[in-house]
Amino acid sequence: MFKKSIVLFTLLLLVLSGNAFAAGQQDSKAEDKGSLVFYAGLQEDHAAMIAEEFEAETGIKTEFVRMSSGEILARLKAEKDNMTASVWYGGPVDGIVAANAEGIIEPYISPEAVNIKEGFADPNGIWTGIYIGYLGFVGNKTMLEERGLEMPQSWADFLKPEYNQEIVVAHPGSSGTAYTMLATLVQMMGEDEAMEYFKKFSPQVRQFTKSGTAPGRMAGLGECTVGITFLHDAIKYKKEGYTDIVISAPAEGTGYEIGGVALLKNSPDQDNGKIFIDWVLTKEVQEMGKTVGSFQFLTNKNAMPPEEAMPIKDTKLIEYNFQWAGENKKRLVQRFSVETSTTAPTK
Ligand code: F6P
Repeated sequence: MFKKSIVLFTLLLLVLSGNAFAAGQQDSKAEDKGSLVFYAGLQEDHAAMIAEEFEAETGIKTEFVRMSSGEILARLKAEKDNMTASVWYGGPVDGIVAANAEGIIEPYISPEAVNIKEGFADPNGIWTGIYIGYLGFVGNKTMLEERGLEMPQSWADFLKPEYNQEIVVAHPGSSGTAYTMLATLVQMMGEDEAMEYFKKFSPQVRQFTKSGTAPGRMAGLGECTVGITFLHDAIKYKKEGYTDIVISAPAEGTGYEIGGVALLKNSPDQDNGKIFIDWVLTKEVQEMGKTVGSFQFLTNKNAMPPEEAMPIKDTKLIEYNFQWAGENKKRLVQRFSVETSTTAPTK
């Protein structure tokens, strides 16, 4: 009887531990959703929030590196045969068009692209738009008053002697914002005339920064009188408490960015990359940007633009050609650097 009980007890244990093993296996299977690295061209806090939310929702272990657009392009070129990231997320799409010319982009048309407004996705799936940002001017009210200066209202204003050494702007070699400025003026004036403009403009500039968001922050901190930046970044810093910030938009018209997302060729986690792209294009995820102070207009036709962007909605825009801007990026940046004798800062 005693022996029989031991045998039964042992059998019971075996069954129970077998079940536990099977359940454990299922659990670890459920947990093992793989990983994803994306290179982020938008604000650091925005990228961090997206990585966290995506991981929480999908179980995919997600990491990112924030870089300016030109840095992402340079890094992807260097890593082309040994890719770490699977997605380029954020930053003007000119950079993605330029990356495509280097064979770095894997075309992908997301099922969610049906909800993207017409004209805001590449028809061949090279990039899909996630937001829209307008280029403009930022200034520090107190510093302008102290110097007896008006807030610039036109591109032409920046060449006036009174703004000499008062201007901060990013370098188009590193920054997507600054490349938007370069490609905007080339499209507005013609290439030679724009280069003449930049030759006169460059000695007026006190500092060329690496990142396009820096001039807004610097104006807020009272470290520069005026700067050129995407207006939504200036609005973000003002809302964060830099109340001395003032903004304006060029009277002649200005360029704009489509911030995009793209899948990377030969990348390690392409399936997870596609899940990520599908997710970031949704109305809900696009609308999350404003919770961390990203006030761009949105590309999903069902998404509500942030209230904070309303004061700039009537900015006079040019017909910016993103394909042309991307295809000519390398050449125009080289010419800009030679004509102005400047290089992109590395810090
Ligand atoms: O996230 C802020 C932002 O202005 C984006 O709208 C834009 O795509 C990006 O930063 C440009 O950054 P950078 O000029 O540093 O490449």
